[in-house]
Amino acid sequence: MAMIMQMTPFIPNLRKGQTQNLNFPNKHSSIRSCCSVGSSDLVVSQRLVQQFNPKIPVEEAVTPPSSWYTHPSFFHLELDRVFYKGWQAVGSTEQIKNPGDFFTGRLGDVEFVVCRDDSGNVHAFYNVCRHHASILASGSGQKSCFVCPYHGWTYGLNGTLLKATRISGMRDFNVNEFGLIPIKVATWGPFVLLNLKKENLSEKEVDSHNVAKEWLGSCSELLSTNGVDSSLSYLCRREYTIECNWKVFCDNYLDGGYHVPYAHKGLASGLNLDSYSITLFEKVSIQSCEGSSSEKSKENYDRLGRKAIYAFVYPNFMINRYGPWMDTNLVLPLGPNKCQVVFDYYLEPSLQDDTGFIEKSLQDSEKVQIEDILLCEGVQKGLQSPAYSVGRYAPKVEQAMHHFHCLLHENLTT
Ligand code: FES
Ligand SMILES: [Fe+2]
Repeated sequence: MAMIMQMTPFIPNLRKGQTQNLNFPNKHSSIRSCCSVGSSDLVVSQRLVQQFNPKIPVEEAVTPPSSWYTHPSFFHLELDRVFYKGWQAVGSTEQIKNPGDFFTGRLGDVEFVVCRDDSGNVHAFYNVCRHHASILASGSGQKSCFVCPYHGWTYGLNGTLLKATRISGMRDFNVNEFGLIPIKVATWGPFVLLNLKKENLSEKEVDSHNVAKEWLGSCSELLSTNGVDSSLSYLCRREYTIECNWKVFCDNYLDGGYHVPYAHKGLASGLNLDSYSITLFEKVSIQSCEGSSSEKSKENYDRLGRKAIYAFVYPNFMINRYGPWMDTNLVLPLGPNKCQVVFDYYLEPSLQDDTGFIEKSLQDSEKVQIEDILLCEGVQKGLQSPAYSVGRYAPKVEQAMHHFHCLLHENLTT
């Protein structure tokens, strides 16, 4: 699988006679920690973390308490420890296919912009103007530079401050120190990844092998050989805002098909649920299931194919590969009780013009999403009830969910 990785360089726009200062961080470009956890919050949330014991085997374990899914302090600890470190999927390479393409997004409190410059290099930056903190770029599209909508400061696609308006008379100002603040960016297959770790503010190149290892561990090969790669064509995006904690959506995904016969009767007829298998890797779990080839489920079989693979990449990214399709689900935390799920659909290129098949498949998929949203919002309401504190795992099917909770516990305690 082709991998393109690079650290976003800081390339100052040098004037004659100036020296190049490439050191990060410096007094003007250093960033403060994204952490929004106060010390009393920290005590509270760490006490909550300890209420789950990952050492207890799944057969005897109780689930994390409901406070993990509802408490604001716990949510802020998660942003700090889980989302502001390590590689995070944020989008598709399709969004930055051509020079000048860009897209923006938000992870926790962090606004970011990813773009491809004229030389084809991919960059990512904090999407914040260095003048008075205005959000710089919005949405996605094509640009030759980023012009701040507030007072017109202008930045190149490589982050350089190209123009600072009306600064005559300003003292002790070095334009080279006021470029956009870079974020470490990489791509793996068709996915764009960011790493917000504070110490990333260096010029060090991103090592492609390390990214694959850090993000996917030992299953990167397995995903490549099972068709999770760039050979499919990007088709479309669907976004859902859901009134539930981000982990409720993940848990629902990770129950080993437990809920499928009850909540997705249409989908269940296309799957041979007895063939369900679960494999755990370091930070990834893979659930797979064969398609049902009975005459009754012929249409479903065309969409779902012989075998479906559902890969969960900790903490919040799902890769679903079935038949000619791949869809990815990115679960973005918006608050203790709210998340957004972004679905990107990819399809075998030979089927790209088969509008009837595409429409029917997307409708079937949408039906499953709506069913899942209702389940997740119902669970969130239940988690808020004083009647519920912890639950149990069905050990034969919910190992991947237990694995997720153990990883999260480890992440929150280190
Ligand atoms: S805030 Fe961007 S130019 Fe003033
Ligand atoms: Fe579901």
